[in-house]
Amino acid sequence: MLILGIETSCDETSASVVKSGKILSNIVYSQLIHSKFGGVVPEIASRQHLKTILPVLEEALSQAGTPLKKVEGIAVTYGPGLVGCLLIGLSCSKAVAYALRIPFVGVNHIEAHIFANFLEHPGLKPPFVCLVISGGHSILVYVKDKGDYQIMGQTRDDAAGEAFDKVAKLLDIGYPGGPLVDKMAKKGNKDFVKFPRAYLGKESLDFSFSGLKTAVAIYVSKLSKTKLVRNKKNIAASFQEAVVDVLIDKSIRALNLAGTDKLVLAGGVARNSRLREKLEIKAKDLKFDLCYPSPELCTDNAAMVAVCGDFYLSKGIKSDLSLSAIPYAKIGSMAYSHLAPKVGITSPL
Ligand code: KG4
Ligand code: ZN
Repeated sequence: MLILGIETSCDETSASVVKSGKILSNIVYSQLIHSKFGGVVPEIASRQHLKTILPVLEEALSQAGTPLKKVEGIAVTYGPGLVGCLLIGLSCSKAVAYALRIPFVGVNHIEAHIFANFLEHPGLKPPFVCLVISGGHSILVYVKDKGDYQIMGQTRDDAAGEAFDKVAKLLDIGYPGGPLVDKMAKKGNKDFVKFPRAYLGKESLDFSFSGLKTAVAIYVSKLSKTKLVRNKKNIAASFQEAVVDVLIDKSIRALNLAGTDKLVLAGGVARNSRLREKLEIKAKDLKFDLCYPSPELCTDNAAMVAVCGDFYLSKGIKSDLSLSAIPYAKIGSMAYSHLAPKVGITSPL
């Protein structure tokens, strides 16, 4: 099927055309306007989506060399995400689906991140453990099969990406913080400060990064301006090491518990160079398979939404046009309760 994917859950407006698992185009417009606020401002983000969704959509079709009327199905993120942002993509998708009389399916954003791996690694087969780490989520998911998920652990407070962004703000190095901390940490000493690692008990696969963020804030508040400027790289490296250590230890514990030797990464933080480097070494030592998408498919993009939607649409599973945005949509058994198997499009009018 020729699928049009649309993603507007946070601060990236993206449209993509995917055919039989191959990306024909994947246009991502990142809203740089939020950098001056040090974080995403939801109302501004929705208005930006409104302005850019149609040009982004047209560019995706043009790059793919596909006229709109050739599109056979639409996949769009319905949640989780910012409600105003989700609604822009959802409304646009419904309008196109209704006008063309083609099926459309609402896709869970976290599941789409996992599917980014199937785009680039067609040989990847479940079961595996997936560590989904983004600006809004840190989740260990047991992927029994495509569409069959079990949450093994998740964050109790801040997500990994959120911690990177907040620490970048404390160090006053810009937004989004993850890539900047990553870059800065390369020149820093990871052993400069021993920041706490929150394991939440031996058995737990949950994450907590707010204590670490507070530890960095307290450390920074005690430094003179000169000392802070001189040691930003060292603080960034020490903070990053604390996050990476916890992510790796819990992922390995999850592999053991699930009885699988395949670890898959997904989400924006999966771009982190130190995480990849350390995990590659662990994978060789402990003999497990490690798989992650290329950097541009880790962060939010519509190709991952399209390929996930393709999986459902090709089974005849589609959403009804009454589908609404669900800001706290969960992945797992309840994720697809909104789907209407084999039900045709009903007119909202
Ligand atoms: O998956 P994503 O694009 O959006 C959400 O679904 O949230 O992830 C964005 C997050 C941001 O918090 C960003 O700072 C983080 O991913 N990120 C990174 C890196 N690149 C992006 N974090 C650490 N290291 C990176 N290289
Ligand atoms: Zn995301």
